[in-house]
Amino acid sequence: MGHGHHHDHTQPDWAAMAPMLERQAEIAAPVHLQAATWLRELRPHPRLIVDAGSGPGVVTCLLAQVFPDAEVVAVDSAAPLLELAAERAARAGLADRVRTLHTELPAGLERLAPVDIVWAGRSLHHIGDQQAALAAFAEHLAPGGVLALQEGGLPTRWLPRDIGFGRPGLQSRLDAAEENWFAEMRAALPGSENVTEDWPALLAAAGLRHGGTRSFLLDLPAPLTHDARSHAMDVFTRIREALAEQLPADDLSALDRLLDPADPGGLRLRPDAFALGARTVHLGVRPGAEPPVA
Ligand SMILES: C[S@@+](CC[C@H](N)C(=O)[O-])C[C@H]1O[C@@H](n2cnc3c(N)ncnc32)[C@H](O)[C@@H]1O
Repeated sequence: MGHGHHHDHTQPDWAAMAPMLERQAEIAAPVHLQAATWLRELRPHPRLIVDAGSGPGVVTCLLAQVFPDAEVVAVDSAAPLLELAAERAARAGLADRVRTLHTELPAGLERLAPVDIVWAGRSLHHIGDQQAALAAFAEHLAPGGVLALQEGGLPTRWLPRDIGFGRPGLQSRLDAAEENWFAEMRAALPGSENVTEDWPALLAAAGLRHGGTRSFLLDLPAPLTHDARSHAMDVFTRIREALAEQLPADDLSALDRLLDPADPGGLRLRPDAFALGARTVHLGVRPGAEPPVA
């Protein structure tokens, strides 16, 4: 996974997904901004921030902007995504404070420790042994340092229950099918371990104090912008490919119509498409001297 070399069908081809990851993070920027602002309340003056599983660095750059005194390191196992992260940082005038580190996490963090903030945005669930990875993240935090774990929330809805063709409830069925895909993806990871996804409990088991959990709403009402529609098309294209074997024929036909750019009922043109979802962030604080709140 993410190594860029061997691709089995259960693991995402991260480099190929680069444009989608970039657009997805750009669309969710208001959500990430709220989460980062919350983090800043707890830890106002970090010197070193690690974006663990940064992908193309959209959130890396946002963190560098929210924390203007900090150095931010984008860490990822997909080298092409780190190149994009570095290019993005240069375009944003952040090249002096944004670095990249190519490594297969959880290895490699010892080269950066002690870290004031580790941000792990939907990356932990791509690591086989999540508890071991959390322990490694925790170990490399400075005393009082914070691990911000973005996991869970609510899957994004793009369409009403009844879209005017096919059987109503398509999105619920896609969510259910995606759960199967997710379970297969996890099972196929090297060193895969099942854990109960009680994130605060997993943070505690890694030796961190639970610093709070909050969910942030992604709420883009209809009509969607061109970029948001493009992202919706990406999402449904990926679903169509990944879940083709699981879905009944009528749902596949509905997906084909949604993906037809010329169909007035398709995601590109239909007026009622929206984006509504939620991202949950759990904070774990390393015990020790915590800096005074500014
Ligand atoms: C779903 S993407 C999230 C990207 C970014 N954090 C965001 O929220 O936009 C997951 C990222 O984690 C990276 N990743 C997965 N497993 C990894 C590992 N073991 N070490 C480093 N990066 C990893 C992938 O290459 C990918 O860029």
